[in-house]
Amino acid sequence: MTTTPASLRTLAIDGGSPVRATFLPYGRQSIDEADIHAVVEVLRSDWLTTGPKIAEFEDAFAAYAGASHAISFSSGTAALHAAAFTADLKPGDEAITTPLTFAATGNCILYQGATPVFADVSPDTLNLNPEKFAERITPKTRAVFPVDYAGHPADLTAILEIARKHGLIVIEDACHALGAEYRGARVGSIADMTVFSFHPVKHITTGEGGMVTTNNPHFAETLRRFRNHGISSDARQRQSAAQWYYEMVLLGFNYRLPDIVCALGLQQLKRLEANLARRRAVADRYTAVFRDMLGIVPPAVRSEANPAWHLYPIRLDLKTFVVDRAQIFRALRAENIGVNVHYIPVHLHLYYRDRFGYRGGEFPVAEDAYSRLISLPMFHGMTDKDVDDVIQAVTKVIEHYGATGKN
Ligand SMILES: Cc1ncc(COP(=O)(O)O)c(C=O)c1O
Repeated sequence: MTTTPASLRTLAIDGGSPVRATFLPYGRQSIDEADIHAVVEVLRSDWLTTGPKIAEFEDAFAAYAGASHAISFSSGTAALHAAAFTADLKPGDEAITTPLTFAATGNCILYQGATPVFADVSPDTLNLNPEKFAERITPKTRAVFPVDYAGHPADLTAILEIARKHGLIVIEDACHALGAEYRGARVGSIADMTVFSFHPVKHITTGEGGMVTTNNPHFAETLRRFRNHGISSDARQRQSAAQWYYEMVLLGFNYRLPDIVCALGLQQLKRLEANLARRRAVADRYTAVFRDMLGIVPPAVRSEANPAWHLYPIRLDLKTFVVDRAQIFRALRAENIGVNVHYIPVHLHLYYRDRFGYRGGEFPVAEDAYSRLISLPMFHGMTDKDVDDVIQAVTKVIEHYGATGKN
């Protein structure tokens, strides 16, 4: 009996049978028995929040990232807000970032009453283009927020050099890039402040959660106060000092990460290197296949970078297809492959259009990428069979819709 090649089978969207019987998400957490045990242990303890697990998690994280300080937050968004506050962004100030990111990167600038100014991305990595960044600097610019898109570190040397020349603070949004390396240094040790997220699709998870790393002790102190109502000491410090008095010294929030999930984060951190190795192996496998497939542009990797592969975003060469990206996306979903799109450029969101008058066309590289991007499933729990299914489904759909073969 001969088997029919994937490309000749009827697409699931046209009534054929899908490549997979069950849905494969684009990202997913891994929880093991040690994680569950660590959480249960905290549930049986005295401190559900603001207890010993916070410092343990922060110390282990700082050591991993190669930073002097790590301050935990209730989400990556809260961590970004705290970093924007710590950079002293105020109404009338501007901060520059990339449009090709999650809305939170721009929003944290708005939380401070400052104005987000976008600069276009580089065509290969889709990270903030240093030349475009330099062009957007004005006397009002105070900070820059490069994003490590998909886990590939931003152009940090060039960005830091430009920022230093203009006295700007560099806040790296590394929510995709825990464990990435840039010129041999870990992300988290390079920028003035670096922000991470522990959402379940990320490299390690605390359900919701975030972290800021910094080598600046003043920033660290402000970040700690900001996440705790602006109060200069926490409840545990007061208990151990037998003291009730405290001072609120700035207007902060309750952005604390509870001990329950710090224990989870601490446990997950032990598996981070294994998670990264698996993601890198999946990326290598994808790239080995997709770099020779007509109609697909795999993500670029620069020689100075060792990406963390939060995402694996391919770009479609749309002129080789008889259908648009939306149809290819729907066809892959019908094959039970959980593709996604990262990102709708921030300036094109309705809120930003209404507030700042964006109409599209302002950032051609990011907008062109957006029209062609599809993120393939990428997470450390993927089996070899999962990876094969993605490759088979992409091959089936891409060949069906027009790309006629290999280069
Ligand atoms: C680039 C980027 N920045 C910020 C965030 C916000 O992180 P969180 O979801 O932990 O608030 C995300 C989350 O996905 C992100 O991808």
